[in-house]
Amino acid sequence: MHLTKEEEKMLNGKFGQGTQKAMELLVAIGDAYDAERMIPISRAHVASSGQEGDLYFVELLADGGAKCRVPTSTNPVYDIEYFDKLFEAPKDEAEVARRVKQGYKRLGAILSWSCVPYLAENIPLFGETVAFSESSATPYVNSVIGARTNREAAQSALAAGVVGKTPKYGLHLRENRKGTVLINVEARLKDEFDYTLLGQFVGKRIGYGIPVLTGIPKCPSTEEFINFCAMSNTSGAISMFYIPGITVEAQTVEEAFQGDVPPEKITVTDHELKQTCEELQTASGKIDFVLLGCPHYTLQQVGEAARLLRGKKVHRGVSFWVCTSATAKVLAERIGYIAIIERAGGRVVADTCIDEPCWTVYKNKVGMTDSPKCAYYRRFKEVIVARLEDCVKTAVEGKCE
Ligand code: F3S
Repeated sequence: MHLTKEEEKMLNGKFGQGTQKAMELLVAIGDAYDAERMIPISRAHVASSGQEGDLYFVELLADGGAKCRVPTSTNPVYDIEYFDKLFEAPKDEAEVARRVKQGYKRLGAILSWSCVPYLAENIPLFGETVAFSESSATPYVNSVIGARTNREAAQSALAAGVVGKTPKYGLHLRENRKGTVLINVEARLKDEFDYTLLGQFVGKRIGYGIPVLTGIPKCPSTEEFINFCAMSNTSGAISMFYIPGITVEAQTVEEAFQGDVPPEKITVTDHELKQTCEELQTASGKIDFVLLGCPHYTLQQVGEAARLLRGKKVHRGVSFWVCTSATAKVLAERIGYIAIIERAGGRVVADTCIDEPCWTVYKNKVGMTDSPKCAYYRRFKEVIVARLEDCVKTAVEGKCE
């Protein structure tokens, strides 16, 4: 890969050891993908995890004096102080999470601790070149916003944030942003959960590729887009998709396939969505907890949970949790959503991912969520996936049929 004089200096350690390590990683990736050169990025998002692999790389860069050169936001870890008061996470894991948080602070990152940073804390615009990791973030940024990012790992996104550049390969090249499979949606998409099911089905069915969706009746809401992005990029590896005429980059199917004939066509009907939903209903009976907000609930979703819980009480044996961003939590507090949820016996927590040691107390318990991604991580004995309305109903009744 051709490097500029400044990039050579970074690689040779003239900008400090931390930047050198970041540059070494980016050059190795660039070489692996035959990139010809590096290109500047305007922002990055790191799918930080607060776990040991994360800690190693963050401290490697921070101890080496690195600083983020472009705005670089961070994924949720967990609100250590909040959970310490309730039930302690294992001490060694809590220490790792604490050091990770400190590491990102030393690097000068935006301490957003949110997995939907593209809504508030770190928003790319159409055409921007960025390095965004995290399941919903990569396809959302590529498809809904029309910025350009590869499907970054936490480490490559952080390295790009530190160097301010990324190798030019993959989705940074127009020819690689070409649709690979036509998805004809005949299913009736009624709500956010149907987009969750659609994403789950599409990711699982095609695995890796750029789907072009037709038959979508109207422009999906922000939350519907988020759900489709998160699930298709978890059940599969979907970094980008098109809904011609709705997502920004292609107005027609022909444009999305860059003039080629779609090599494959898949039809999704109500039957496929129903089947996908049934596959996620893995248990019935008594539940111990409901866990919502994977990806982090938007302000509107927190409001919807509050609306459904208003005047009700969560069953004595059930814990009810909503995870959201710090930004949304402040507004939800101000509006009164949190008071309603708390009056019903639930809790709203910011900065926290569902895949963190703070949830160890539910390890052998059965839970319910509206997110297949939450169920996928398997931190718990069993997690049933269902619509928000059913999660709330079950939380109140204490069991599902
Ligand atoms: Fe967000 Fe963690 Fe789920 S990063 S999408 S809450 S697994």
